[in-house]
Amino acid sequence: LTVDASDSSGSPIPDTLLGIFFEEINHAGAGGLWAELVSNRGFEAGGPNTPSNIDPWAIIGNVSYINVETDRTSLFDRNKIALRLEVLCDTTGDNICPTGGVGVYNPGFWGMNIEQGKKYKVVFYVRSTGSINLLVSFTGSNGLGNLASAEITGSASDVSNWTKVETILEAKATDHNARLQLTTTTKGVIWLDQVSAMPQDTYKGHGFRSDLFGMLANMKPRFIRFPGGCFVEGEWLRNAFRWKESVGPWEERPGHFGDVWMYWTDDGLGYFEFLQLAEDLGAAPIWVFNNGISHQDQVDTTAVLPFVQVYYFTVLFSFPYYFFLPARGDATSKWGSLRASMGHPEPFDLKYVAVGNEDCNKKNYRGNYLKFYSAIRSAYPDIQIISNCDASSQPLNHPADLYDYHLYTNAKDMFSRATAFDRTSRSGPKAFVSEYAVTGSDAGTGSLKAALAEAGFLIGLERNSDVVHMISYAPLFVNTNDRRWNPDAIVFNSYQFYGTPSYWVQLFFSESSGATLLKASLQSTLSNSLVASAITWKNPVDGNNYIRIKVVNFNVNGVDLHISFNGLDPNTVQLSGSTKTVLTSSSLTDENSFSQPKKVVPIQSLLQSVGREVNVVVPPY
Ligand code: AHR
Repeated sequence: LTVDASDSSGSPIPDTLLGIFFEEINHAGAGGLWAELVSNRGFEAGGPNTPSNIDPWAIIGNVSYINVETDRTSLFDRNKIALRLEVLCDTTGDNICPTGGVGVYNPGFWGMNIEQGKKYKVVFYVRSTGSINLLVSFTGSNGLGNLASAEITGSASDVSNWTKVETILEAKATDHNARLQLTTTTKGVIWLDQVSAMPQDTYKGHGFRSDLFGMLANMKPRFIRFPGGCFVEGEWLRNAFRWKESVGPWEERPGHFGDVWMYWTDDGLGYFEFLQLAEDLGAAPIWVFNNGISHQDQVDTTAVLPFVQVYYFTVLFSFPYYFFLPARGDATSKWGSLRASMGHPEPFDLKYVAVGNEDCNKKNYRGNYLKFYSAIRSAYPDIQIISNCDASSQPLNHPADLYDYHLYTNAKDMFSRATAFDRTSRSGPKAFVSEYAVTGSDAGTGSLKAALAEAGFLIGLERNSDVVHMISYAPLFVNTNDRRWNPDAIVFNSYQFYGTPSYWVQLFFSESSGATLLKASLQSTLSNSLVASAITWKNPVDGNNYIRIKVVNFNVNGVDLHISFNGLDPNTVQLSGSTKTVLTSSSLTDENSFSQPKKVVPIQSLLQSVGREVNVVVPPY
């Protein structure tokens, strides 16, 4: 491998090169990164008609002691369902309540992680025909053991109208599979609504599970594409994600059933929280919105205006339509003031929007796209607009700044796609490889083989970073209790997590964003199984420039690699401390797991002899 390390040889890699794609799939958000412990907190998941299914809530006590039903008496207009508990037993009289009382419990998303010494904020709304005496507690999954509890009392006048109750519970013990109970031994009728339990140690108090947030921060993502994926489209338009329903006070959000990945979300992780997540990660938000097209139905271009959300903008006469980007409105505008009331008076730095997801071949895509394009471009000329249509091998038939490129394939094909952009036109819109992964039997639930093939592909993208400006793997997260898609980068349950080999591969590239690509040429007969790239970048921590060579050996045999550096000034180069980092394992099918989270991870060692000529053994695979 010959690397030209002279100052003049390099070409800049876009600042945005490596990022993440967050989709609400596999319970990535609800029951994942979003730390809310209660599932179906407003009892809305069963739909707006009563009686409704309150799953996963369950009733404590049999019909001799308690009647439970849903009705439409909620305080909140957009989510009318509330839970009515008619308690028939008491502490005295002829119907004594069973030990522990009666009421309801919520097991969360396959068990709540309650940890000794940690604090949890429980909030709920209550109303009653009389006084209340409720025990709010975290218990084991069978209702036994008191991990933390608080007694909530109120006179009849206190709770005759809907009343918000807040309490902080501190756990006395740990249980990763706990549940939240609300119980009573007092006869009467009680209504409950909007029950939330949030750990108090979320990242900056912003609601993100700290351990999972840390996994994202380690990737140093320069952008975050959200919230889907198919989640944005919906199987049917009526079930697509709607940002307006996902902002404002959490109690007032209706939640919705995502009919592609087939689960309910309370939309605690809404449009605002996604923007907050981007800001917390130091990543540029990329908002993917529905363009009037779902998997099964689509809005005709002549009727797509309600989706474009245009407003007549009288001041700027020359711009007849004002495309409303609520992330950027100033704090006095309608949506800007809502954003301010949620704790963010400054506009979010939204610079990218993607019009739809995987909709290029749909009948109305081009027409609908153009409506959005002209509205956005005229109101916000600086916003970069991303098309769903692949322009890597032929020009687009519509204007765009970037275009989506998605690739799910087997390992051999993925590796061979390292050259996918070699012949792409150097003019026109830039590529956003917004979803890629090896899938199928090569990948299992996250194999070394998949990761190696992806690494080869990424090296090809890095070498083509004059036309490939953004890259993100998909999907990002999977809760092991709801694997809708395999493989995924980060695997978790209520309290454990690990990165798949594909996650670790992405970390090899985390310095590439904004770095300089060096000319590197490989002289080898193994071009079908060996790829390499070289970058240089300034480390902000020590102010030094570093060179990183990345090599993928997708072959059963090891390779003796001879690297020569041209153009290095021997007076300014420090060779000691150079390192080699290797990701491999004894078998291509090896995966990480909760019991062996670091079976396949990069291992770093010092390079023994480094000079302008370096010999390195690159092991098989
Ligand atoms: O990443 C999983 C899915 O794959 C995404 O929702 C969709 O865009 C693609 O088909």
